[in-house]
Amino acid sequence: MLSIQNLSLTYGSSQVLTDLSLELRPGEVLGLIGPNGAGKSSLIRALSGVLAPHSGHISFNRQDLLAMSEAQRARLVSVVPQSTQLPPAFTVYECVALGRTPHLNWLGTLSTADKSKIDWAMQVTESAALKNRRAGELSGGEQQSVLLARALAQDCPILLLDEPTAHLDLHHQVAILNVVRSLARERELAVLVALHDLNLASLFAERLALLVNGRLQAQGTPQEVLTQDALLRAYAVSTRILPNPETGQPWVVLQDK
Ligand SMILES: Nc1ncnc2c1ncn2[C@@H]1O[C@H](COP(=O)(O)OP(=O)(O)O)[C@@H](O)[C@H]1O
Ligand SMILES: [Mg+2]
Repeated sequence: MLSIQNLSLTYGSSQVLTDLSLELRPGEVLGLIGPNGAGKSSLIRALSGVLAPHSGHISFNRQDLLAMSEAQRARLVSVVPQSTQLPPAFTVYECVALGRTPHLNWLGTLSTADKSKIDWAMQVTESAALKNRRAGELSGGEQQSVLLARALAQDCPILLLDEPTAHLDLHHQVAILNVVRSLARERELAVLVALHDLNLASLFAERLALLVNGRLQAQGTPQEVLTQDALLRAYAVSTRILPNPETGQPWVVLQDK
């Protein structure tokens, strides 16, 4: 279990996250939602060790994540950062192979086990056919699949995804989130995914955390978090929440002004 306790984060003198506590269980997809600038990416950066928090604790199965070396953390946490770029001259295979870096021996050579993890990651993300293409020539959807493949090849129990569906068409949004959800279940991964689309979040995440101005405004099931009142407070937009006719999950509908 990933446990975040009383986390506060500052950039210089400005407070970005305030006293945030959250738990993420293996096998679960936790959707991180909230307006632009709420602190979603900052939280993901803190969890991936890029930003040191001002105060608070982050642990995984009682191991202190903040006290670990970068190499130790890279075997526990893999991340697809927001609007990240692949090295354009690398082939897709080389990009995905980068995911194995934290596990390589001192010679830095890929073992048979490493290679089979790379092949598996490309296969589940449907990027195997792109294997020999240059990353710089891929479409946005293909690049997102390869970024996910690289993170999966890293083979960590915690997966952090920062808006992995931004700029993707409906097919690719659903494809990426389906892969993530089934892997969470089959491989007991703990997945934190920042999403802007509340209806996608409602469909794909078992639990949601709503971040507003660096504070956790609500957490719980989509039914508990996606309420008219909470969305009005968070986004200053009037909505109606209906049961999705297909799934019964909350379905956010904008109200006419
Ligand atoms: N490197 C940085 N230096 C200073 N302020 C930053 C930096 N990155 C983000 N911020 C600020 O922190 C707040 C939270 O940003 P971010 O975590 O990117 O939000 P979100 O991902 O929810 O849109 C915003 O007010 C943003 O301007
Ligand atoms: Mg962000």
